[in-house]
Amino acid sequence: MNLNIALLPGDGIGPEVLAQAVKCLQAVEETFNHQFIYREAVVGAIAIDRKGNPLPDTTLNLCKEADAVLFGAIGDPKYDNDPNAKVRPEQGLLKLRKELGLFANIRPVKVFPSLIQNSPLKQEVIDGTDFTIYRELTGGIYFGQKHLNEDGTVASDLCEYSEQEISRIAHLAFKAAKNRRNKLTLVDKANVLESSRLWRKVVTKIGESYPDVQLEYMFVDNAAMQIILNPSQFDVILTENMFGDIISDEGSVIGGSIGLLASASAGEDSAMFEPIHGSYPQAKAQDIANPIASILSAAMLLEHFGLYEEAMAVREAVDKSLKKGVVTPDLDSKSQYGTNQVGDFVAENIVDNGDDFNMNDENIDLGKSTII
Ligand code: IPM
Ligand code: MG
Repeated sequence: MNLNIALLPGDGIGPEVLAQAVKCLQAVEETFNHQFIYREAVVGAIAIDRKGNPLPDTTLNLCKEADAVLFGAIGDPKYDNDPNAKVRPEQGLLKLRKELGLFANIRPVKVFPSLIQNSPLKQEVIDGTDFTIYRELTGGIYFGQKHLNEDGTVASDLCEYSEQEISRIAHLAFKAAKNRRNKLTLVDKANVLESSRLWRKVVTKIGESYPDVQLEYMFVDNAAMQIILNPSQFDVILTENMFGDIISDEGSVIGGSIGLLASASAGEDSAMFEPIHGSYPQAKAQDIANPIASILSAAMLLEHFGLYEEAMAVREAVDKSLKKGVVTPDLDSKSQYGTNQVGDFVAENIVDNGDDFNMNDENIDLGKSTII
């Protein structure tokens, strides 16, 4: 298959984790005879620094022309700590999502058996956790009208949803539930918010067309508690933009590190793949950032184009790295492996997907790498 992939490394650890995902895609090309063309562009704080715009037109056009976008991370402390900044890196990502029409953000939360001990939660609580969050991505409070009064003392952000915005993602979530364990949980705040009541009405109606799927409703405050108390009760969670942002970070702790969670954002004509984590500026250029979320985002990209065997090869190579302890320090504080070595290991195991590995198992068990 020929694919045009736009690469947006972004800020902080974005470039280094994205580079590992690209290594893995190149290994897939080589092993499965595909041809991917990569074109890179700036977004976020680096784009503000270089071009005065967090999403320059050249970047947007490159993404529009591409078959898919692979995104690194966005954000920089110099903007986080300045509430008066007029231009912010995050605006680049939000505009990109809107312009590409990426209304559905899909965030799978699964526990890797080899990492159960990394979770801050007890093993009996997290056993069997496997759910996917369908987060609406181009509406709600993120995109509603913003207002700040003249003397800067009163501010508002409007949370607005239309029936059409709710229904298009609801259909995707119901279809996903049908292919999984037939359960959909709508997370909202319908006891307080009018917009949530519209979500309930629209989703309930759509649910009638999916009689096999059990639909349940949960207030977001309770959902925040249930995700920690009993995460294995969930199959597909459907929710609006900001609730999805918050509970997906919460979901990421179940697996032991936010550095493991990938996501896909899909629209009618475009698709973008990105880790759910931020730019982690403290770790920038230190070769310690976990590249797994970025690599698994590349696996989701492959699945999006029906390349299931290829995606499986990536996932199996990731499992292998976790099992062998070829992981970054967030997963094992004594680990001597860096971002690059983890990327190399995963990529090499995609190429050689048999039992014959390039790293000497004994040395790995001793914590010594043989690939360097
Ligand atoms: C995410 C991030 C973004 C969001 C930020 C960087 C704007 O937190 O993708 O979850 O809030 O959507
Ligand atoms: Mg977030």
